[in-house]
Amino acid sequence: MNKRFLDDQYRLMAPGPVKISRQVREALALPMVHHRTPIFTKELKNCLSLLKNFFQTKQPVMMIPSTGSGGMEAAIVNTFSPGDSVAVVVSGKFGQRWADIARVYNLNVHAIDVSWGEAVDPDQVEKILSSHPEIKGVLTQACETSTATWHPIKELASIANSKKNTLFIVDGITAVGCAPLPFDQWGIDVLVAGSQKALALPTGLSFVCLSERAWKAHAQSKCPKYYFNLLKERQANEKGQTFFSSAVSHIRALSIFLNHVEKSGLEALIRRTGNLSQCTRKAAEDLGLEIFSKSPSPSVTALRVPQNIDGTKLRLHMETQYNVTVMGGQDHLKGKILRIGHMGDISNNDQLATLEALALSLKEIGHPLEDNQINKALSSAEEFLKMCSNV
Ligand SMILES: Cc1ncc(COP(=O)(O)O)c(C=O)c1O
Repeated sequence: MNKRFLDDQYRLMAPGPVKISRQVREALALPMVHHRTPIFTKELKNCLSLLKNFFQTKQPVMMIPSTGSGGMEAAIVNTFSPGDSVAVVVSGKFGQRWADIARVYNLNVHAIDVSWGEAVDPDQVEKILSSHPEIKGVLTQACETSTATWHPIKELASIANSKKNTLFIVDGITAVGCAPLPFDQWGIDVLVAGSQKALALPTGLSFVCLSERAWKAHAQSKCPKYYFNLLKERQANEKGQTFFSSAVSHIRALSIFLNHVEKSGLEALIRRTGNLSQCTRKAAEDLGLEIFSKSPSPSVTALRVPQNIDGTKLRLHMETQYNVTVMGGQDHLKGKILRIGHMGDISNNDQLATLEALALSLKEIGHPLEDNQINKALSSAEEFLKMCSNV
């Protein structure tokens, strides 16, 4: 079959890290400056100010030179004390990570186990909070990336907010910038993001925002913290500095990204992510593939690999034959699902080439797909993206 969209380019279509724009790459390549210079302080202040718009909050958003998991650890150590009880939504790998970090700091974890691929039922959370009034926090993902599942954040926030002493802590690492998550309006208490996702930077910066309630909890919290002391970070930020040496290259690149979002609008970024996920779901349907999650996320789509196909082989085939990187499943989902990301600087051609690589790879490793069906699915995806661009 002739290739319609694929060429020699490498395409990074994972749910993070993601494809980075040329402008951001150019900022990353600039000569180094010291972090205590007026020129850098200006960039830092710009980022700290624009991050509030990105998180839809009046609260300070702090950045830490760590991966997203560091941001998760910071969320916990800055709000709780050893022995505190927390409820943790565990619906995949990253829910397990919340529980693991909480246990490391000797918190008492009430796991709310949810079948992988399903969203948590808010009633489950309400029940556990009512029967355990000592619970001081509800921890969840907004998007559980390992299953590409979106949780009902607004509803969960309202349940946690109705309890006097319960913080609502959200891992928004594959969610902030992908769908509306208005921090102040919904009453989120701690929100974590990571640079290698919707912010379309290299891995290495995490972002954490605390509500007033969470800052009050910080004052009481006794979990040990040194590198992740967010109060020290905030105080340094107020002086136009960071607590430790600044991640100068990342922050200058972040400034480019946030200036761009400021101009084009957060809604435009969210719309683009939503369009790519919709396009992927529709193409999957046209190719006869099933969507794995019952509550699909806009930031990443998990496709169930047909039973006759080894998903690990499929992923590898797309990479080695077509230069397209997507992700497979983890743990019991290994070989069973394929995860395609919708964050980053993805062009329409990247999207269509990925769908083409998927269809051709499926056919080449033995899934019965007709050329006609593949062509129809690709034409329909192309048409959809054109229509979205014209809106
Ligand atoms: C929802 C979620 N939480 C946490 C993480 C961990 O982030 P990192 O690998 O940057 O530590 C990821 C990474 O993919 C994620 O998707």
